Amino acid sequence: MINEDDIRRVREGNDIVQLIGERLVLTRRGREFWGCCPFHNEKTPSFKVDPASQLYHCFGCGEGGDIFKYLIKTENLEFPEAVRYLAQKANIAITDQQDEAGKGKRTRLYEVCEKTAEFYHRQLMRSPSHQAEVARTYLSKRGFGKDVPKEWMLGFAPGNNRLVRYLSEQKYTEDEMLEANVALKAESGSLRDRFYNRIMFPIRDLQGRTIAFGGRIIDKGEPKYINTAESKLFKKREQLFAIDKAKAAITSNGTAVVVEGYTDTIALHMVGFNNTVATLGTALTAQHLKLLTRFAQRVIYLFDGDEAGKRAADKASELIGALITPEAGPRRVDLFVAVLPQGDDPADFCAKRGQGALQEVFDSAQPLLRFALDRKLGRWDLSVPEQRAKALDEAVRLLLPVSESLLVTDYLNYLADRFLVDYQTVNAVLQKAKKSKGEQSSPLTEQTLLAESGKVPLDKLSRLERELLILYINQPPLRAILRQGFTAVSWTHTLHADIAEKLQLMDTTSSAQSMISSLAFQIPEAIAVISGSKLDDYGEDVEEVAHLLLFSHKEEQLLQAIRTKNAELRITDREGRDDDILFAQTAELQRQLSELRKKYNESRR
Ligand code: UTP
Ligand code: MN
Repeated sequence: MINEDDIRRVREGNDIVQLIGERLVLTRRGREFWGCCPFHNEKTPSFKVDPASQLYHCFGCGEGGDIFKYLIKTENLEFPEAVRYLAQKANIAITDQQDEAGKGKRTRLYEVCEKTAEFYHRQLMRSPSHQAEVARTYLSKRGFGKDVPKEWMLGFAPGNNRLVRYLSEQKYTEDEMLEANVALKAESGSLRDRFYNRIMFPIRDLQGRTIAFGGRIIDKGEPKYINTAESKLFKKREQLFAIDKAKAAITSNGTAVVVEGYTDTIALHMVGFNNTVATLGTALTAQHLKLLTRFAQRVIYLFDGDEAGKRAADKASELIGALITPEAGPRRVDLFVAVLPQGDDPADFCAKRGQGALQEVFDSAQPLLRFALDRKLGRWDLSVPEQRAKALDEAVRLLLPVSESLLVTDYLNYLADRFLVDYQTVNAVLQKAKKSKGEQSSPLTEQTLLAESGKVPLDKLSRLERELLILYINQPPLRAILRQGFTAVSWTHTLHADIAEKLQLMDTTSSAQSMISSLAFQIPEAIAVISGSKLDDYGEDVEEVAHLLLFSHKEEQLLQAIRTKNAELRITDREGRDDDILFAQTAELQRQLSELRKKYNESRR
């Protein structure tokens, strides 16, 4: 916990141009500095550092932020670490509030989870109860005896509110237990243990802090697993079981193995695949991949050999996107799929066949895209003409997310071979599919990292709104004009409206820096918005720029409204009816537009 004032002093005591300039060649252009983006691979500079706002932004990949975010991203620091780092650099003393009372709420939640893990572990190792004995026997029967429980800090949840009582004695509050999701509120209003009579698998984050639990029923029964619900600490779409243990092995051999179960992970680690992690009751997501690409260049997704496993593998094709293409540069990740023989899950397979057999399965892993194509084609009889056409259509659809990449050529060739046609024929089908898909790209390709925020072009109104906001921040003398102008602006994005509102509540004489600092506290998302300003040089007459932006915004809104009305008119026209009201509304908008233009031209003379 570092207080707001200290953060502001640290921010103002450092210079983003200097910091970034230490690692990157930056060239001055106008009032800004440009260089090649450290977040994606590029040869021509599209990474901008703005000394006035102290923000950076890449127009190639969309990364943007302030000096803290830059350190967090490039150095893998947490926010407080970034602040401390910069404080030291600028010789600024900050007051640490690490005492008991002020200790961060988050830290308390980590502690609750840690204490819980220790409690469960002690129960498993030492409890004389019959149920704990059954749990121990079950684990050793499955080959998880000896050192395994200790190494993975496996536990046993006795229930009977023993955990709640223990945590209360340790002075944790009800709210903290509920928020860490180790307890539930009973109908009577009292607290009870969330897990009882289950074998407990602690889930840890990248730094090894316990954040959640998976609880397995002993032997048979439903539900087989109960997991911690999403909490402040636990986001199952982002976190991976065993990532803390596996990251070193993943880094050293460049490959990560992803399975779906806790026991599978442990079994694989036991036979030497220490680079294994597991998803937590979801399929692999783009966020998981993002985490893995920090350590891995290759990811092997391992599936059970049954139909459910293969269906899960099919679902993985949603991950096909820009990240797997050579154009992704250092962030590229090669995704492979390996499927076990029918009937075995990874844990059984390891136990029965051992490390060598599993290695063979990994060696036969196929690129995800190739695997997905083969599965698709396997459903059709390619000797029947109608089915051939359908099959080709579907196969080509899988290529769409990577259709802009060099990679697509290989796969078009592969399809051409499979269909016994030439490359041009397959390519023509792809081009047609691309066209019919139009501008709208699939949500998943947009989620992939390359497109994360920047690549999707902003609409004109958003762009203008962002320029107006950055102008307000960067040009104190213009603030009076802009405040006046803002009263007539109807913002198309609530985020922009919120930013405008917050800015106008600040002292109009504040420096750009201190405005950004306050804004970063009030609306953290705002920083990415204002870092993306394209106005690199306001030229001589900044006041002119302010008027032009205000005018263009209003003009564009009217133009859009007129376009919509005209489209509606065309419909009523086609239906053969006259809509007088619609017509009058359109005419009124037209009138407003010409008046706006006239007034603007007169005032600018
Ligand atoms: P599995 O059913 O394959 O279990 O579910 P498993 O991990 O192999 O466990 P064992 O070997 O039978 O003991 C795979 C994963 O799916 C999630 C868990 O994360 C589990 O590890 N899962 C499964 C649940 O969250 N809830 C369930 O009821 C079942
Ligand atoms: Mn399983």
